[in-house]
Amino acid sequence: MKTISSGFCRFIQYFSALIVVAFLGGCNLDTRMSTFVTKGPIAEEQLNLFMLTVWVTGIIFVIVGGVFVYAVIKFRERPNDDRPMPSQGHGNPLVEIGLIGASILLLAIIAVPTLRAIWFTQETPDDPESRLGAWYQGDDLAEEEAENPLIIKVIGYQWWWAFEYPQLGITTANEMIIPAGKVVHLELRSIDVIHSFWLPRIAGKVDLIPGRTNSMWIQAGDNFAKWKEKQGLEGEGPELRQDYAKYLEEEIHDYYYGQCAEYCGESHARMLFRTTAVDDQAFAEWVADEKAGHGTPDGKSWDEWYTAYEENPEELTGDLNEGLKLFMGRAKCATCHTVNGNPRALGVAGPNLTNIGSRQSIAAGWLNHRAEDGSIDVEKQYDNLYKWIHEPEVVKPGNLMWKANGGGIGELIDEHGEPALLTDEEVSKLSLYLQSLK
Ligand code: CUA
Repeated sequence: MKTISSGFCRFIQYFSALIVVAFLGGCNLDTRMSTFVTKGPIAEEQLNLFMLTVWVTGIIFVIVGGVFVYAVIKFRERPNDDRPMPSQGHGNPLVEIGLIGASILLLAIIAVPTLRAIWFTQETPDDPESRLGAWYQGDDLAEEEAENPLIIKVIGYQWWWAFEYPQLGITTANEMIIPAGKVVHLELRSIDVIHSFWLPRIAGKVDLIPGRTNSMWIQAGDNFAKWKEKQGLEGEGPELRQDYAKYLEEEIHDYYYGQCAEYCGESHARMLFRTTAVDDQAFAEWVADEKAGHGTPDGKSWDEWYTAYEENPEELTGDLNEGLKLFMGRAKCATCHTVNGNPRALGVAGPNLTNIGSRQSIAAGWLNHRAEDGSIDVEKQYDNLYKWIHEPEVVKPGNLMWKANGGGIGELIDEHGEPALLTDEEVSKLSLYLQSLK
């Protein structure tokens, strides 16, 4: 008798310790990838559905587990047990019908909100306030562009993300800028294999499938109407609008982490992305900045620069000019990368590098140089660029840039026509040039 009870006690101890560890592990729910502290209607809808399912299944677990434990303890065999065997039945119709009924009821409790949520997340809202023309402060838009919400085409590559803004005529990579509180319609497709778009605090997940376009909508923060509803406020007026702007500024303007959520090859875990939610004015300024692109390092026109590049390249001096010469020449960066403004950097196989010096991470979010206060740690940024160009195969195994550096697509050639990788000095100058693109 003694051995049974002490064994049981030990089991209870271990089991409680396990439960405590499991709970402590999930203690901090407010992390950058948390699905529990949501920042938008889609993630909120998904969280509500998740919690409903947790409650329903939790109750089932407690009832079934309780009956099981009760039966095991109450009817267990005791030493010298001479009670007769209980009568054996083949079932009880009332209990069976009752359980079937209860199951149907519980499934309905989960199914109805699930269907509602599917419709909610599938249909991009089309209220007048969500339309691009209603809030965008930048260049004039064509009528049909203004009629739609902001559209971003999300394109998955092994292992990075392209974000195209067709109505605004810009393309960026790995860091998506969105206006806070506004509907954004996403069109998702893939160039190579299946990827999955997941921006945990705002929305997730939808797959990017080759040969097919999926769509979803996202929104960072509530819109004005929803915010008023949650606050229990009514009416219009500049003061309310001001309070709403303050809510967006304090709670929504932020840098959000995203991640590819479908295994897509050896560097799948390094296929991250970032999203920054900003106010309307900052968004318009960012778009204008992207469109304008970059000039030459010394203020020459691009025509002058290219004439010098072809005729007297030694005339173009300084680290940035040296970096740009490498970018266009020996390092072959422009074969795969576009830099807006530069008329000959038009490659599309790799990420668009316009304003890469303003991005807070590189290599699809894997190398981060964002300081605690949200600014860019310039030294870290240089180190990251250097590391990425110097040993891309270490930073992101299997990536195509490595192949371009002598392993597959192309080969780098030195001034004597011999194959040669970039020297440390060349990598340094390229890093400085890229850092200056902001
Ligand atoms: Cu892309 Cu995993």
